[in-house]
Amino acid sequence: MTTNGVAPLLLMTPGPTRVPDRVLRAGARPMIHHRTREFSAELATVIELLKPVFGTGSAVLPVHTTGRGALEAAICNFFSAGDEIIVCCNGKFGELWASLAESYGLTAHRICTDWKKRVDVIEVGRALEAHPAARAVALTYSDTSTGVFNDVATVTRTVRMVRPDMLVMVDGVSSIGGMPFSFDTWGVDFAATASQKCLMSSPGLSFAAVSERAWSAASRAKLPRNYWDFAAIRAEIGKECPETPGTPPVDIVLQVAEALRLMHEEGLDRVFQRHAQMAERARRGAEELGLTQQCPDLGAYCSTLTAIAAPAGVAPKDLRNGMRIRGVLTAGGLGKYKDTAFRIGHMGDIRIEDVDRTLQVLAETLAELRVAR
Ligand SMILES: Cc1ncc(COP(=O)(O)O)c(C=O)c1O
Repeated sequence: MTTNGVAPLLLMTPGPTRVPDRVLRAGARPMIHHRTREFSAELATVIELLKPVFGTGSAVLPVHTTGRGALEAAICNFFSAGDEIIVCCNGKFGELWASLAESYGLTAHRICTDWKKRVDVIEVGRALEAHPAARAVALTYSDTSTGVFNDVATVTRTVRMVRPDMLVMVDGVSSIGGMPFSFDTWGVDFAATASQKCLMSSPGLSFAAVSERAWSAASRAKLPRNYWDFAAIRAEIGKECPETPGTPPVDIVLQVAEALRLMHEEGLDRVFQRHAQMAERARRGAEELGLTQQCPDLGAYCSTLTAIAAPAGVAPKDLRNGMRIRGVLTAGGLGKYKDTAFRIGHMGDIRIEDVDRTLQVLAETLAELRVAR
């Protein structure tokens, strides 16, 4: 129950997602000071338990910001004004990479701009030839605007074959924690996620993995950075009792530590499997209701959300409203799909029963709207 006695909506959104009670309680204790052993122990737990989530043996940096801030920080840390980067723009968040780069005076070469298709490695290969001065390729693992699954492993391999020195930067904000990610094995240079999605905690904290190649780029990069400085964060978490530069959102650190304990208790493989099953159920359930995917030809779909086209003559806002009245909150379409689609998030603490309830409510709402027309 919420504080006003009303049952909370079932959050079937791609963030913020439902925060489990155990996680809520972990953050709801009397404040602890961030320069204490007690806090350091929790931060150390977060850093340690995040390593397998990112698939890295190195420390993952806590960055006090939302997902977008962590991506912006990556631009500031690794580049100088005038640098060129290649950006895979097959969704709103691929486009976000390009616009962040441009706001800092970089030139972004946009490729794979068709939102209906996953990133095409052949196009990546062509761009590498066409832009020999480019220093990085940026892409999303899952783009939350379409539900695409981009094959980061293959893209990274393609880049490495041609340009061993080039950075591969991945926005994993809506996927890391819900889908397997192998930062070290794939050879990725930067990847970020945020607390409010697969990590089932409150919004406001992000995490970034950085490769040796990226640290070396950071040492040469000239863009100004202070709050965003990854090296300063690395120095603080490298202390015997890890700390952060400045005051972190203590309660969210405590929440994420508990959320990660929960994920490891379940077992990461099981967590990923649960997400894959939920995605399968959501896609099939929508089809059984006569609905089509927002982008039916993506080639590969992520496990964390399903984007569905509203049926002809039904406004997505009416559909979402009907579902909300029945207790289930979904997300609207993004960008070019704003008026034609809606999105069901199934990540973090969400279970298959929640997907079933959502499909049930979707069926009831469709029946009502079709009858009403
Ligand atoms: C893939 C992706 N990247 C970046 C962001 C931006 O994250 P935030 O809203 O935490 O700044 C989002 C948010 O939905 C996202 O889904």
